[in-house]
Formats: sequence, structure tokens, C-alpha cells
Amino acid sequence: MTFDPRFRQFLEQARLRVEQALERRLPSAATPPSRLHEAMRYATLGNGKRLRPVLCYATGQLLGAPLARLDAPACAVELIHAYSLVHDDLPAMDDDALRRGRPTCHCAFDEATAILAGDALQSLAFRLLAHDPALDIPAERRLRMVDELTHAAGSRGMAGGQAMDIEAVGHELSLAELENMHIHKTGALIRASVRLGALGTDQVTEESLRALDHYAKCIGLAFQIRDDILDVEGETEAIGKTQGKDAANDKPTYPALVGLDEARAMARGLLEDALASLAPFGDDATHLRELALYVIDRKR
Ligand code: IPE
Ligand code: IPE
Ligand code: MG
Ligand code: MG
Ligand code: MG
Repeated sequence: MTFDPRFRQFLEQARLRVEQALERRLPSAATPPSRLHEAMRYATLGNGKRLRPVLCYATGQLLGAPLARLDAPACAVELIHAYSLVHDDLPAMDDDALRRGRPTCHCAFDEATAILAGDALQSLAFRLLAHDPALDIPAERRLRMVDELTHAAGSRGMAGGQAMDIEAVGHELSLAELENMHIHKTGALIRASVRLGALGTDQVTEESLRALDHYAKCIGLAFQIRDDILDVEGETEAIGKTQGKDAANDKPTYPALVGLDEARAMARGLLEDALASLAPFGDDATHLRELALYVIDRKR
């Protein structure tokens, strides 16, 4: 897949930007409790795609928000994501040994440290929204960001979706149930990434927010469908996690329920829907358009 060179440049710069912002905001491993801080840094600063922060920056930029103001929300969504991966990989959940091409947090450290690192990453995310000086917006909008992210991370969002995932092991879900699980476990945080970017400015109209929200819902679901497909046909080395784990763990996935071809067709349908919702923004939404294409065609 070939991307517009300006998009490539944006993607690289946004990734670098959030990685530097995270580096500065994570506690130093030299500060006690050192092992916990080391685990938090290990889980966050590895080789991630940074899709959620990139979506936050791209949305904010589309609406005219300065990038510096978006650093805290971009870091916050990535910290929640990093925490969700650490807990997702635990023996009590997916029991995975490989993440981002290296040992999972509980394998590199130990289970107790991994649980605490996840907890502390989540707390840091909300502290940034409450406190980060670079987030120069009125207190009311900060509070709205906190509200959006708590909802997306909690039992009505990611954690709830993860609960559905655990309960579903060994059961055949209907397509509607599977879709609902994916919308929660993965879609909610992707949606929040776009919404937090939009809240970086007071210029956003309810109409624009609705269109962006629809875009985010479509790519959030498509992202997890692609993740399910990559678990079947990806290479362990490229995806940085053990290929074939969903089938081994008897997880309900799109390829397992509808087959690979139909799963691909569904992701493509969601892409079309996502692109249609960006029409009112014209050329200004190029980065969000390219990101939608990236979501469904990515190899890792
Ligand atoms: C993996 O997310 C977990 C899912 C929600 C599918 P990513 O594929 O975004 O993982 P990283 O951050 O790039 O490692
Ligand atoms: C994870 O879904 C969703 C999260 C909330 C972390 P998966 O269990 O499919 O993610 P991977 O494949 O381990 O990255
Ligand atoms: Mg899982
Ligand atoms: Mg997993
Ligand atoms: Mg997966």
C-alpha cells in the first residue's frame, strides 16, 4: 500500500512527538519504586504503532488545535492503551508471552509488577488530563476530557469489552454479540482518541463532532477486525505477538465466525462508511482518510 508522502511524514512526526511526550511524562526508572517505574516505561515505550495518539493529533489539527495542547490527551489515550495491553497479556487473560516483538510485561518483570504497572499507567493517564500544564484549555473542557476517557476505559467501554471477551471463550457468539464486544474492547478507546482531539478546540460544532464520532466508530471496529485477521494470516515477526493465539485460546473472532474473506469485506465496508462521514471536511481531512486506509490494510 502506498501512502501520500505528506501523510507518511505526518505519521512519523506524530509518532515521534508522542514518544517524546511520553518519555518526559513517565516517571524515571531511577525514582523509587524503581522496578514499578521501569515496568511502566517498558510497557509504554516499546515499538507501538501509536494509532490512538496519532488519531488525537490528526483530529485536533483538522479543527485548528495547536499540537502542543494535544500532547496530554495523546499521551493519556496511549497510556490507557498500554495498560490495557499489559493486563490483556496476563496469564489470567490471554496468557501471552510476546508483545511488540519482546517479552510481555509480566514475563520481563513478574505478574504482580505487571498488574501494578497497568494500574499506575491508568492513574497517570487521568493525572495528565487533570494536571498537565501544556493542556491550556478551560477547566470545564478538561473535565469533559476526563469524563470521555473514564467512560471509554471503564465497564461501559474497554474493561467491559474485555469482560465480554473473557466470558465468550468457548461459546459461539452471534455476529451482533461479537460486534458489540469489539466495539467495547477496542472501539471505545479509538473513539475517545478522536473525541479528545476534537475537544482540544472550542471550534468544534456538534455536527462536526457527530461526523467525527461516526468515523471513529467505524475505524474502531475495523481496527479490531483487522487485528483478528492478522492473528490468522500475519507473521509473528511482523505483528510482534504470537500468531494463531486467538484460535489456540478459542476466542470468538471475525475470521472464526464469518471466515477471512467476509471479515475482509466487512472491514472494507466500514472503511467506506468512515470515509463517507469525512466528506463535509473536504481536503482538510486527508490525514484521517489515510489513517482509515491504514487501519484496514496494515500488516502489523
Ligand atoms: C493491539 O493494539 C490491541 C488491540 C486493541 C487490537 P495495537 O495493534 O494498536 O498495538 P500497538 O500499540 O501497536 O502495539
Ligand atoms: C485486546 O484485544 C483489546 C484490548 C483491550 C487490549 P486482543 O486480545 O485481540 O489484542 P492482542 O491481539 O492481544 O493485541
Ligand atoms: Mg484479549
Ligand atoms: Mg490479547
Ligand atoms: Mg488480537
